[in-house]
Amino acid sequence: MNKVDVVLGLQWGDEGKGKIADFLTPNYQVIARFQGGPNAGHSLKFNGQTHVLNTIPSGIFHSESINIIGNGVVVDPVRIKAEIERVEAAGAKVKENLIFSRKAHIILPTHRLLDAASEHAKGDSKIGSTLRGIGPTYRDKIGRNGLRIGDIHLQNFKEKYEAIKKEHLGLIGFLGYNDFDLATLEAEFFEACEYLKVFKHVDTEYLVNSMVASNKILAEGAQGSMLDIDFGSYPFVTSSNTISGGVCNGLGIAPQHIGNVYGIFKAYCTRVGSGPFPTELEDATGEELRKKGHEFGATTGRPRRCGWLDLVALKYAIMLSGVNYLIMMKSDVLSGFEEIKVCTGYKIDGVESKQVPYDLCNVKVEPVYTSFKGWSEDLTICRSKDALPQNFLDYISFLEKELEMPIRIISVGPDREQTINC
Ligand code: GDP
Ligand code: IMO
Ligand code: MG
Repeated sequence: MNKVDVVLGLQWGDEGKGKIADFLTPNYQVIARFQGGPNAGHSLKFNGQTHVLNTIPSGIFHSESINIIGNGVVVDPVRIKAEIERVEAAGAKVKENLIFSRKAHIILPTHRLLDAASEHAKGDSKIGSTLRGIGPTYRDKIGRNGLRIGDIHLQNFKEKYEAIKKEHLGLIGFLGYNDFDLATLEAEFFEACEYLKVFKHVDTEYLVNSMVASNKILAEGAQGSMLDIDFGSYPFVTSSNTISGGVCNGLGIAPQHIGNVYGIFKAYCTRVGSGPFPTELEDATGEELRKKGHEFGATTGRPRRCGWLDLVALKYAIMLSGVNYLIMMKSDVLSGFEEIKVCTGYKIDGVESKQVPYDLCNVKVEPVYTSFKGWSEDLTICRSKDALPQNFLDYISFLEKELEMPIRIISVGPDREQTINC
């Protein structure tokens, strides 16, 4: 029987999931997002053009693939309308190939305002949210208070909306936030809801389960394992389960249907927003990584914090998701550094540990590093493993030994073509 394979980020997001999902799509008939929402920004590059997807799965540019937005995703009608229009203009067949779960929750204008109000109220301890309304929408879902895609077809949709809005406005007022023009936000919201009515809204759990036997399905994750609501660097996390366990809830499939778990990681680490980051480099080396790697958010444009690869966190992520297929991204960015470091342990109160501590926020972690000699060769032109420089291969061998698994794909640039199968 066919299985549902999974693409996941193993760090703090932006590992290159979009590029790999697009690269793998020709092997699959269905690409399905299972969590997150427009906080994600997945970049794809082919034919000299870059496309950024936020909620639409990364298979959309392959005219044969079906793209599903699963029940675990939160959808902002306003943002997805703009995204659909953008992607259609680039030639994708969205009306034919995009299917929404009727059970996916909707991000309301007041969810976005609540996100802003809550971050504003937190002051210096803010999460650094993307302000897309993700946290408040999942909060209403868990609080049994949300609206779902299927609800936009209901006669009393507006009535339901008004009841939730009233509650939200009370909370926003309590938080002392008043910098908004709700009438304008609501006008575009209801226009976008109308626009979405012509798309396919179905019970995707039935669809996915009926397809699993005869089709190959790829589940595309958003964010990264260290942003997982349960296992990430809480509270500096997103509001969904980003690990492979989230696929079952987010698509409505049973665990025995999960097949390969592709774990995507960068050759170094980045993080955008606040929160602990043990290997962060707040120096010239970090600045150089940011510059060479163009480390600025695909969704918000914010500079990403940069640091060395963290094997303690990476092993944790591999364990949590049962990763059996490793993919390393942005290898080309490390060219030109004299010395490359990899964190192999955390020293906490003078004692070395191989585990991610319960509360990364309130312990002082001193990373234990192993150093490697760098290389100067340009990797972006390499198309096979034997073209890669020896110092880079030594780095890879060390990682494979530590992670107890081969690295099956090495990415050496943003383009589809810059991908080496090992
Ligand atoms: P995602 O959120 O995991 O899909 O990743 P993003 O798209 O947010 O960020 C990854 C960034 O790195 C994008 O700008 C990609 O175009 C770019 N990228 C992906 N793979 C590579 C690579 O191997 N080398 C370089 N230099 N850039 C890459
Ligand atoms: P992709 O799919 C990187 C981060 C935010 C913030 C925290 C919570 O492109 O990898 P949220 O808006 O979810 O409430 O923000 O999570 N974050 C991401 N960081 N990549 C992402 O998605 C992210 N989505 C959320 O910066 O620190
Ligand atoms: Mg991204």
